[in-house]
Amino acid sequence: MAQTPQVETPLADAMVLFGATGDLSRRMVIPSLYFLDVDGHLPADYRILGTARAPQTREGFVEEVRQLLAARPDPIDEGVWNRFSQRLDYVACDATTKEGGAELKTHLKGAKRPMFFLAISPSLYAKVCGALAASGLATPESRIILEKPIGRDLETSREVNRAVGEVFDEERIFRIDHYLGKETVQNLIALRFANTLFEPLWNSLTIDHVQITVAETEGVGDRWPYYDEYGALRDMLQNHMLQLLCFVAMEPPADMDPRSVRNEKVKVLRSLRRFTRADAQNASVRGQYTKGVVGGKEAPSYESERGQATATETFVALRADIDNWRWAGVPFFLRTGKRMPEKRTQIVIQFKPVPHSIFGNAANEDLVANRLVIDLQPQEDIALTLMNKLPGVSKGGMRLQSMPLSLSLLSTYEGPGARRRIAYERLLIDVLHGDNTLFVRRDEVEEAWRWVDGVADAWTEAGLKPKPYAAGSWGPSGAFALIERSERAWLD
Ligand code: BG6
Repeated sequence: MAQTPQVETPLADAMVLFGATGDLSRRMVIPSLYFLDVDGHLPADYRILGTARAPQTREGFVEEVRQLLAARPDPIDEGVWNRFSQRLDYVACDATTKEGGAELKTHLKGAKRPMFFLAISPSLYAKVCGALAASGLATPESRIILEKPIGRDLETSREVNRAVGEVFDEERIFRIDHYLGKETVQNLIALRFANTLFEPLWNSLTIDHVQITVAETEGVGDRWPYYDEYGALRDMLQNHMLQLLCFVAMEPPADMDPRSVRNEKVKVLRSLRRFTRADAQNASVRGQYTKGVVGGKEAPSYESERGQATATETFVALRADIDNWRWAGVPFFLRTGKRMPEKRTQIVIQFKPVPHSIFGNAANEDLVANRLVIDLQPQEDIALTLMNKLPGVSKGGMRLQSMPLSLSLLSTYEGPGARRRIAYERLLIDVLHGDNTLFVRRDEVEEAWRWVDGVADAWTEAGLKPKPYAAGSWGPSGAFALIERSERAWLD
């Protein structure tokens, strides 16, 4: 992460953006490249070659890019635009064929270290890699960027990894989990490893449990052809949520070298306790939204968006246990869902209560165990709740109150020139420099699938079907029972 890797890798000199006219390219990749140019991060001779099947001229593509940038809140900087537009080119081709590869090669005009960004269906990854190899574009200094999903389970993820691995060495493969590009996720690393304060407390002696919530107000909408095959478990938990869990749970790496960081994350994934059929019933809940009201607006059911009834979960809550010294006996409660009452990505580190209270009865009622709340979005905020004395005098001894010690990142985004970065900006800089610390390694993605496959298998064995929940609610009632079973509660 922006740390210079130990062996300096030459900067990439071009990007080939597959699926250049698609949603991901338009919303994330192209604006990120433009902002990197604004900040002076793109090398002078860096070229951007968009490709898709759709016929389009270079001029037409440049115009499209201009329009999509103009539609963003930040005004276009004309000086940067002049430079940026010169970098752009477009070629319409079928990139899964050797001929397509040859076409790309002609347009790349001798670029030696291209970054291939596959913003296309994962079902095409293997073929595109084959075409890149056949046309001689996959040089030892090129890099490939893959989006999730890498497979749908362990077996299919291995197939994808094998096909890509036949063409690109692992250090050249950048598997994106865009959560790792988010400012607060990286801040979690800073919080844990740039302070002495937390590390001695960061274990089962002091921590009671951890909660990770990723709630979205959006529904699935017209993404159902993809979503219906995946569901919340595979769409969110296998990747983003397990990554967050890894950053909370991992041991301190020796340094920020990609190998050190990713080795520690893999150890966490390997320590996740395998789900059993009993866990499916007692330690997990699947839900699917029915119609309801979100943010004052009526929202349709998943079934009506999908057009028929299916057993796909749009909500999942579960208890994960990490079987190692640090975390023995500390449950991690994870929940994620679509059409929740609010957008919220939050990690709660709940500390244990004081072992003995010296206060009188009244104050005892006020005592709340310390909590570290890390809000990742929409606000980026870190708050540590501490008990202190309620000011003033009261009958029967002092009263206490819980107050947050708060570190808000909001002010960082205020003032001229300040802006919230797109997660992809951070990630693309890292690819440019060949640093894959914030990308998911092959064994990591496969370990995550191994555990998630266990959950899916346990669900099948137990015949666990999604329970309905009204859009705009916090999921099925079972999600509350799940955490209350161990006398704990979600922080809502
Ligand atoms: C994607 C999922 O990976 O992440 C989507 O496929 C989800 O279903 C999205 O909506 C959430 O990302 P963010 O950055 O809005 O939290």
